[in-house]
Amino acid sequence: MLQRIAHLEEEMLKRLSAVTSLESLDRWRIEVLGKKSELVKIQRSIGQLPREDRPRVGDRSNRARVTLEKAFEKRKGELEKRRIDPILRERLDVTLPGWPVRLGRLHPSTQVLREIQSIYSEMGFQVFDGPEIETDTYNFELLNMPENHPARDMWDTLYISKTLLLRTHTSPGQIRAMRAFCPEPIRVILPGKCYRYEAITARSEVMFHQVEGLAVGRGITMADLKGVLIEFCKKMFGLERKVRFRCSHFPFTEPSVEVDIDCLVCEGSGCSVCKNTGWVEILGAGMVHPKVLENGGYDPETFSGFAFGMGPERIFMLKHGIDDIRLFFRNDLRFLWQFG
Ligand code: PHE
Repeated sequence: MLQRIAHLEEEMLKRLSAVTSLESLDRWRIEVLGKKSELVKIQRSIGQLPREDRPRVGDRSNRARVTLEKAFEKRKGELEKRRIDPILRERLDVTLPGWPVRLGRLHPSTQVLREIQSIYSEMGFQVFDGPEIETDTYNFELLNMPENHPARDMWDTLYISKTLLLRTHTSPGQIRAMRAFCPEPIRVILPGKCYRYEAITARSEVMFHQVEGLAVGRGITMADLKGVLIEFCKKMFGLERKVRFRCSHFPFTEPSVEVDIDCLVCEGSGCSVCKNTGWVEILGAGMVHPKVLENGGYDPETFSGFAFGMGPERIFMLKHGIDDIRLFFRNDLRFLWQFG
């Protein structure tokens, strides 16, 4: 019996080395190790052997099974490798350079916000944060626009409740900064998102950024306002830019101005960006209204200040000749990847 097993083992190993495909390997496995195999028959018949022979035969047949199983696994590995190797060789040239990995970039709005912040920080302004969800009181009332004041129509407002709204500008931050710093002098900028209930067009978005500026102190005059804003325009748009201050009106500043620069696209000769005027508006500003100073806790007899508000997306559009504000928040990588 032992001899029969040894013979079987030898025979099957020999046949295994002649197996050249995974399909015939499977047939080999069923025949040699399957339920109807010679080996299983032998193992089943052990019970009929004389008692003293059983352990040796059992042991030998188990070893034969282990040997054959191991040989099977080894052969299987070889055949699988043989099948995969040509595919790998054919399709995968490991010496080719890989796909370049594209690095992420800062969003254009973030880029210009940082640029604005850096220019003002050189002039001693620090960043102050206000909430995007505001009360009607901060967004309007304390800025000298009581209920039903017609100037509220300047901003189409998204109300959340009767008293809560999404801020339409960063100006409510002026009051928050004043109340936080009073009675100390202030030099802050307030960057952040604003919301307006407007039709989305190439020129207006529902959400956009603003950067508010506020300086409060003793003896601050319109000359300080002009100096700071001219400096900003030159740093942001280039030394050769002309800057113009135009009379305007905001309820929370008195006097109020709007600031234009000569058009970067046509250099002032007239184009569609400047609507043939040669000038483009970039910000609103003015001397803080005495009532607003008072609402912030400052005595307007002793203190004065100036404030301004600008739109980073608009600034970025002018600098890069972009004619559609909707591109900013559409997250089309073909747009975003062009900058930075
Ligand atoms: N808050 C104004 C706006 O959104 C801009 C502004 C800010 C004007 C500060 C004057 C002073 O249009």
